[in-house]
Amino acid sequence: MNITGISAWLAVPVVAAALASGVAAAPLPPASSAHAPASPPPGNASRGAEVYEAKCGACHSLDANRIGPKHRGVFGRKAGAVPDFHYSDALKKSGIVWNEKTLNTWLQSPVKMVPGTAMGFQLRDAQERADVIAYLKQQSGKH
Ligand code: HEC
Repeated sequence: MNITGISAWLAVPVVAAALASGVAAAPLPPASSAHAPASPPPGNASRGAEVYEAKCGACHSLDANRIGPKHRGVFGRKAGAVPDFHYSDALKKSGIVWNEKTLNTWLQSPVKMVPGTAMGFQLRDAQERADVIAYLKQQSGKH
């Protein structure tokens, strides 16, 4: 007896039923997704601390320059402003001020935002970006 053949045949109506009910019942995407780039999801600073440790910690810390500049106070500050860190000219001349929106764009793709920057890392997950931005804001004394 061909068991595979029978179970595949049996599965067809099950899948069809799931599609019929599942698709109809699926919630519509939130209307806010239409302008997602301007409105990132709300961030959670304590989850952001873990993201920071795991994804930024290889190059950054709050209080010491490493491959990247130290971060305490970065939120609300002009880009390229840590005096004893050697930034790229591109970032120093960018005129960016770091806030939720600029950090979100930066972390999506530093190279796209500031061609010539020395930071080649991208954080692709929107929630992780929001969380790490909330953490940087908290650690800059901005609540
Ligand atoms: C592979 C190393 C590397 C990783 C990983 C990395 N960065 Fe950077 N970052 C840099 C470098 C290098 C610079 C300086 C860029 C320049 O001078 O153009 C920088 C600059 C920055 C700046 C600008 C700071 C200022 O003083 O203007 C911010 C903000 C920043 N990084 C945030 C992050 C965050 C948040 C993460 C983790 C999600 C992260 N970076 C991960 C290397 C890294």
